[in-house]
Amino acid sequence: MKIDVLTLFPAMFAGPLDESIVMRARRAGLLDLKIHNLRDYTYDRHKTVDDRPFGGGPGMLLKPEPLFAAVEKLAGKDTRVILLSPAGRSFNQAIARKLARVPEVLLVSGHYEGFDERVREELAHDELSIGDYVLTNGALPAMVIVDAVTRLLPGALGDDESAQEESFSHGLLEYPQYTRPAEFRGKKVPEVLLSGNHAEIAKWRAEQARSRTRERRPDLM
Ligand SMILES: C[S@@+](CC[C@H](N)C(=O)[O-])C[C@H]1O[C@@H](n2cnc3c(N)ncnc32)[C@H](O)[C@@H]1O
Repeated sequence: MKIDVLTLFPAMFAGPLDESIVMRARRAGLLDLKIHNLRDYTYDRHKTVDDRPFGGGPGMLLKPEPLFAAVEKLAGKDTRVILLSPAGRSFNQAIARKLARVPEVLLVSGHYEGFDERVREELAHDELSIGDYVLTNGALPAMVIVDAVTRLLPGALGDDESAQEESFSHGLLEYPQYTRPAEFRGKKVPEVLLSGNHAEIAKWRAEQARSRTRERRPDLM
């Protein structure tokens, strides 16, 4: 999978995407990730990317020209162009799964008050939000999406089954899990998990996932 990210803050990406499973996926050639600086697509001496909104109001907006130039250069005809915006569809595991099957994605992150509306209308195939709060720019949302999608690429996790069993994969939260020791500070691991009875363990886990979801996230039921 190829993911390009367009941002005003390329330096923010050093670190989070150079570690752990994402870095392993990059090294293994499962993910081709490139970070592009929006300022490289400006044509004036000051490398201007923003301007005041027509009609007045606070803050600055990202101008259309550099964004159009960048997207037209970076996106091929099959690239899915996604704007990051608090006003977008809520990103979730189902969307992550769909994106993991798209060969080329361009994530466009905003800054200031966001994008000139013509960018949304003409360039974007989709608009995603990572939650109902406002961040200063789209770099963190882009990293969240790259991370969530990369771990779903076949071969990215040591054991591909991990992604099938975890929270949201069946519309439920994950069941509780334990590791050694079987007793810690007086707290024992549930007996059934030590029983070796796989059918009973699967039944217990399914019940736990349902009751945990009902209690914490009834909206998912
Ligand atoms: C300060 S925000 C702009 C908020 C915009 N004025 C609004 O009210 O919707 C600047 C940029 O950060 C990114 N951003 C902020 N919060 C986000 C979120 N929850 N999900 C995705 N992107 C977000 C977007 O790229 C946005 O253009």
